[in-house]
Amino acid sequence: MDKNLEMKVPGAKIAPSMLSSDFANLASEAKFIQECGADWLHMDIMDGHYVPNLTIGAPVIKSLRKHTKMFMDCHLMVTNPMDYVDEFVKAGASGFTFHVEVSKDNWQELVHKIKAGGMRAGVALRPGTPIEEVFPLVESEEPVDMVLVMTVEPGFGGQSFMPETMPKVNALRRKYPHLDIEVDGGLSPATIKQAAEAGANCIVAGSAVFGAKDPAQVITTLRKGVDDAQASQIFFK
Ligand code: DX5
Ligand code: ZN
Repeated sequence: MDKNLEMKVPGAKIAPSMLSSDFANLASEAKFIQECGADWLHMDIMDGHYVPNLTIGAPVIKSLRKHTKMFMDCHLMVTNPMDYVDEFVKAGASGFTFHVEVSKDNWQELVHKIKAGGMRAGVALRPGTPIEEVFPLVESEEPVDMVLVMTVEPGFGGQSFMPETMPKVNALRRKYPHLDIEVDGGLSPATIKQAAEAGANCIVAGSAVFGAKDPAQVITTLRKGVDDAQASQIFFK
């Protein structure tokens, strides 16, 4: 692999999922996890319809924004993402990731609206959704900035990592060396090697970080997993 291609692979971003934090103390949890070395705050938005769980919405993002300058990586597990773009812009969200399964007819308009609002656009896909479904969104004239490959069925924290999703990550990395590729669900020191060696660079981890005795150590281990894989470029071999 030549040096130019190597340079194009974006570096590690560790994004603890606030779903596993103490929702009654979000501001202090965000401050704590930033001090532990996190790059992004991953915010799981669930509507009780697209997934069988209810979490938080724009009002909570807005409140938390008053207490942190960190990048808020919002993952919308909702049936109608278009309905929430304006609210999330106003609330101070940094990234807006919608699911491809519910956006087949309007993803172009959705990406345009997200980017026009100053947010980064991401597209997520469930474990059973073929990777080809996101190719048009990456190759569009107004492309998404990130693809989130779900490594569990969306809806809940604390589930087991699904290694069968790794070929999708590797196919994406080989096709798009420059792309931010995020994995979400069951990531931990035990599973980071598989995900990083497949080519993921944005790592979401909820229970493994917030449930740890030493969250800073876990974040360091996750980052090292990505750095090691990038040093050997094993995902291209
Ligand atoms: C699941 C969410 C994840 C979840 C990850 O639907 O999208 O972000 O919080 O939690 P862990 O890391 O515990 O699997
Ligand atoms: Zn998520």
